[in-house]
Amino acid sequence: MATDHLNAYNIFDLREQALKRVPRGLFEFTDRGTEDEVSLKNNRSVFDGIRFRPRTLVDVSRRTQDTTIFGVPHKMPLVIAPTGTAGLMWYEGELALARAARAAGIPFTLATGSITAMERVADEAGGELWFQLYMWPDRALSHELVLRAKAAGFKALIVTVDGVSSGNREYNMRNGFTIPFTISTRNIVDMVTHPRWLFGTMLRYLATTGMPTYANYPAAARAKLTAGPVGRSSLRSDSISWDDLDALRKIWPHKLIVKGMLDATDAARAVDHGADGIGVSNHGGRNLDGIISPIEVLPEIVDAVGNRATVFMDSGVRRGSDVVKALALGADAVMVGRATLYGVAAGGEAGAARALDIFRDEIHRVIALLGCRNLAELGPHYLKLVDPTLRAPRRVRRPLSAVPDQAMPG
Ligand SMILES: Cc1cc2nc3c(=O)[nH]c(=O)nc-3n(C[C@H](O)[C@H](O)[C@H](O)COP(=O)(O)O)c2cc1C
Repeated sequence: MATDHLNAYNIFDLREQALKRVPRGLFEFTDRGTEDEVSLKNNRSVFDGIRFRPRTLVDVSRRTQDTTIFGVPHKMPLVIAPTGTAGLMWYEGELALARAARAAGIPFTLATGSITAMERVADEAGGELWFQLYMWPDRALSHELVLRAKAAGFKALIVTVDGVSSGNREYNMRNGFTIPFTISTRNIVDMVTHPRWLFGTMLRYLATTGMPTYANYPAAARAKLTAGPVGRSSLRSDSISWDDLDALRKIWPHKLIVKGMLDATDAARAVDHGADGIGVSNHGGRNLDGIISPIEVLPEIVDAVGNRATVFMDSGVRRGSDVVKALALGADAVMVGRATLYGVAAGGEAGAARALDIFRDEIHRVIALLGCRNLAELGPHYLKLVDPTLRAPRRVRRPLSAVPDQAMPG
């Protein structure tokens, strides 16, 4: 799909377009952080403390960003991170994102809180699909969800562990932003003043499947979720522990990724408990303000898990150069959350594809200018860490080749 007609030359252009198209309550829910947004800003500015140190006179004419993640070949070192609201940004936005990911040759992660049911995404979008789990207080319900994901053919399970409480997102309360949407004068004005979204997304839902809601939740649980601003009303469990990880390991036969870790000891322990992947993430600065940024601890975590697990990094990635810096500091792949959400909000599947094209082009250019022929060559030797709090990993990682599932087959 050619996407350069969208007048978006970088991810920030897509953000501007998203801002214009979707209601403010929804935009802020997606775009903003928590409390004073110190972490949100640091997630971006931390990349400024890393400078490139290129090599020259290297023939990069056949450079490639092909990689393998869990032994599966992929066209870029990116994974679409789980975000509950793609289906609100665009009519059936999760299908749009999943299709764009498939076309770009990268995995797409469907969130527990998505608007489109997992079975539909599996049937209608296909591609390499991963499922993200928020543990509910009722473990039996959560395990049912996991077994549904297994039956639907999802290839990896991401269990998110940094959401034991929701973030303090005051703007959601000010905006009266809830899922399903609640009717208030403010919300009606917000929707009516964004007619492209109102007609293209909301009214389309109302004319077909009804008010968008959490399609993966069992009907009995759904009602409990709707009683307040998003983030104040969820059924998330604050008692999730290592025992839960063990229990998931027993019922999930494929790759298991623990997302939301920022501590090397935790990461190594997760691998001991059967995790195949670690998601080094601060949830895009949405949960705890004043938290460290993933890039600040990524090298420690890479060193702690060694080649026993695949390491993903996310939070604040908006440029191909950010991706390359994270890989050079030891990540095997990078997850993107808002970047592709802006794309889907701006133009559905074409907008998501545009976001991925932008990353592909930027990565392609950066590795050329670094004198780097493939991602396996990336390492801290291409960087100068000008921020004294940053450090390089001791070991230079290589993208992992086939690593068998830890648990039972099938
Ligand atoms: C609107 C939105 C919804 C999100 N929902 C989820 C979710 O349901 N589960 C989850 O594990 N992470 C969720 N995240 C966090 C992302 O998976 C990811 O960690 C984060 O967006 C990365 O930061 P970035 O947006 O700066 O790329 C969400 C993020 C956003 C922006």
